Amino acid sequence: MLQAMPSTSLSGVDALSIHGFDEEAAFLDYLLDDVWDILAQGVRVRFAAAHTPTLATVRHGIPTVRTVVLRAVSRDSAMVFIHADRRSGKVQELNLQPACSLHIYDPGRRVQLRIEAQATVHLDDQIADGEWTRLRSQYRAQQWRAVAADVVHAAPEVAIDDVDGLAEAGRREDFAAIALHVSAIEWQHISSRGPRRARFEIGDNGRGYWLDA
Ligand SMILES: Cc1cc2nc3c(=O)[nH]c(=O)nc-3n(C[C@H](O)[C@H](O)[C@H](O)COP(=O)(O)O)c2cc1C
Repeated sequence: MLQAMPSTSLSGVDALSIHGFDEEAAFLDYLLDDVWDILAQGVRVRFAAAHTPTLATVRHGIPTVRTVVLRAVSRDSAMVFIHADRRSGKVQELNLQPACSLHIYDPGRRVQLRIEAQATVHLDDQIADGEWTRLRSQYRAQQWRAVAADVVHAAPEVAIDDVDGLAEAGRREDFAAIALHVSAIEWQHISSRGPRRARFEIGDNGRGYWLDA
């Protein structure tokens, strides 16, 4: 159900009241832009909350969750990429059941994102090759940063800040790139005025609308 715009300013856009201007639609557009910004920042910024989302799959009928690193995002194709060991549980689970969810809570924005997606697992194709090449170049860049900081001589394994697991990038033959094809995103903001919740259907007939909190 579409609800009235909040009087608190999440964005500053609620100051707009041009005759005939659809404020609700503009505000929802703004929120969706912000969602993709959160994701893009999650790829770039290692300390951003969105850098390490939680991926949920189904294991023997039971939901199972784990932290992963956000590796790439494409708004144009509504895709999010993560990496994994192809022998891991999540890869087996996604091969059996591609429907999955990604969860992010960004405390700075007080925004929760629940991203619904269909996963495709890429092992020996162009997508996997591309992601592997990018991973290796990130690893090399990280090593250079460590050398520049002169920490690598002391204790290479522990001195490098390795939240991305780059030091354990492993072997190409074990590598899997997982593409999450985003079908819907639920946005929720918590404030003293209570929660606000919006849902965005992604795709050809994409649309955004408010949900009862
Ligand atoms: C900070 C952090 C980042 C992680 N990033 C990844 C990742 O990008 N890919 C991955 O497969 N596992 C990652 N892991 C490990 C997973 O959370 C999980 O423990 C492991 O992949 C086994 O999960 P599975 O048995 O469900 O496949 C990460 C763990 C932590 C704590």
